[in-house]
Amino acid sequence: MTQIGENTTLQVKARQALDNIKPYTPGKPIWEVQQEYGLDRVVKLASNENSLGPSPKALQAIQERLGELHRYPDGLSAKLTHALAEEFGLASENFLVTNGGDELIVLISQAFLEQGDEIIVPDPTFSEYAFGANLMASTIVKVPLAEGFQYAADDLLAAVTEKTKIVYLCSPNNPTGTYLPEAELRKFLDRLPERVLVVIDVAYRHYVTAEDYCDGLEFIREGYPVIALHTFSKIYGLAGIRVGFGVAPLAVVNTLLKVKEPFNVNALAEAAATAALHDHAHIDASRRMNEEGREQLYQGFRKLSMSYTESMSNFVLVEIGEKAERIYQQLLERGIIVRYAKSWGFPNHFRISVGTREENEIFLRALEELV
Ligand SMILES: Cc1ncc(COP(=O)(O)O)c(C=O)c1O
Repeated sequence: MTQIGENTTLQVKARQALDNIKPYTPGKPIWEVQQEYGLDRVVKLASNENSLGPSPKALQAIQERLGELHRYPDGLSAKLTHALAEEFGLASENFLVTNGGDELIVLISQAFLEQGDEIIVPDPTFSEYAFGANLMASTIVKVPLAEGFQYAADDLLAAVTEKTKIVYLCSPNNPTGTYLPEAELRKFLDRLPERVLVVIDVAYRHYVTAEDYCDGLEFIREGYPVIALHTFSKIYGLAGIRVGFGVAPLAVVNTLLKVKEPFNVNALAEAAATAALHDHAHIDASRRMNEEGREQLYQGFRKLSMSYTESMSNFVLVEIGEKAERIYQQLLERGIIVRYAKSWGFPNHFRISVGTREENEIFLRALEELV
């Protein structure tokens, strides 16, 4: 079909900041791999989703809400916010519910970043932090993680300048699965100028087993300028409906409210998330599956003498070797989607999301055959 505008260039000038931005290219969706290679079954271990599926309680809540879809959603997601307040033992005013954690990152960027401000991010990490900064014509300062992809508070502190506005700490970090221990976080926060906002992204917090992990909440309680980013896309299994939230001191939430769209979270998403929050059977089962699956992947990698980074998350970064790109393609042809780590600067690595026992086995068997 003819594409309208195929042969014309746009005379209207876009914002200069967009020169630094390429549209996000997501991993291949299941249907595309099915179509491209003529496959019935595809195993997707590429986006850190919950292979167990969505919370059944969330599905039921969605069903119950369907008849009310002619009404606008609650602009502040009050039911979910109250449920969160109870769960976390904070006031509901300390929460901001968003259209996925991604929206929260954009809101933080819009609310706090001026042109020329700097954000500090660990390297490698989740790409949306840089996206938000690019959107606002701010500068991204990357601080390489230390040996074994571990965080080092001193390295992050050394990168702080007069222009630093936000520091992103992704813990557990995507794509490495490493985390910032509580003592390191305290050391970091105590030395950081108070004019810097710290975003601690705890999207994968449910999967952590380390005792010295910290999700930032106690620092928010203590009044540090910290916002914790949470999502319903991971353990709750609700990536498709888009809900996340931030927890922060009142002044931070009130600032973010200035840039939030009136109805940013849809009614089904709010209902689903509220139900999923209390679906402890689903949360526990998901956590168990993940711990067993992580171990299963480690064992498989050890058998193939591949080195991996021990993960506190629902994915594992593994060094496949020089044939990684070829093997990535061959896995795709067999209907197994993993995340090739080249975009993070690691052309010999994959990031594998932990799947069900069967999915992990299918992947490991294929990997063994291909290497
Ligand atoms: C570290 C991290 N933060 C935030 C998100 C955003 O999650 P969502 O927008 O689906 O809530 C993701 C998604 O993969 C992530 O990996």
